[in-house]
Amino acid sequence: MAGVDAQGWDARYAAAEMVWSAEPNRFVAEEFGGLPPGRALDLAAGEGRNALWLAGLGWDVTAVDFSAAGVERGRRLAAERSLDVEFVVADVTAWTPPEDGFDAVVVAYLHLPPDEMAAVLGTAAAALRPGGVLVFVGHDRTNITDGVGGPQDPDVLHTPEKVTGALPGLTIQRAERVRRPVEVDGETRDAIDTLVRAVRSPLG
Ligand SMILES: C[S@@+](CC[C@H](N)C(=O)[O-])C[C@H]1O[C@@H](n2cnc3c(N)ncnc32)[C@H](O)[C@@H]1O
Repeated sequence: MAGVDAQGWDARYAAAEMVWSAEPNRFVAEEFGGLPPGRALDLAAGEGRNALWLAGLGWDVTAVDFSAAGVERGRRLAAERSLDVEFVVADVTAWTPPEDGFDAVVVAYLHLPPDEMAAVLGTAAAALRPGGVLVFVGHDRTNITDGVGGPQDPDVLHTPEKVTGALPGLTIQRAERVRRPVEVDGETRDAIDTLVRAVRSPLG
């Protein structure tokens, strides 16, 4: 959540067997499901639900997160499923991706102050090879009034416009608010996410 440092995330991961679902995020699965496997980067991967899913489809995945506890769990899940994922413990606001680039980059439910978020989106865009696809998903700002869950600080919540504005070199293929039904106190409610899919031109 917003304003939570690596130690805070470590404590959160240590307190529960599985903080997020074992399955990939539904929008990540929708956007990448039909793509041929290549090299993928998951920024702020947490326990690696998206990274592990991609690896299971044959992608060569690098997963970066600053929580050593989250990464440790991701490594354990990868070993249990006999999957090969390169997990890296690093702060994504300062991490430099390898120069040979990625065919896919995922940023899911990362919430940072605006300057830091823009820097991470710049890193995500720079990490793409020509033709590469970026999928971004996170709690939308309208979630505070019309949805459920996620951080309640508008500064760290997303809008499609804010995200696409931080990706000037990419072609935007999808930028919208999407609804995700969740169970809250035995009731089904809709969480509202920002979803952006963007590609680097195949010409570089
Ligand atoms: C809500 S979780 C989402 C995890 C994963 N993307 C998913 O969808 O399951 C947010 C993650 O962002 C990580 N995170 C937050 N700030 C970070 C930073 N500056 N550098 C690296 N990881 C960060 C946290 O450790 C946490 O694992």
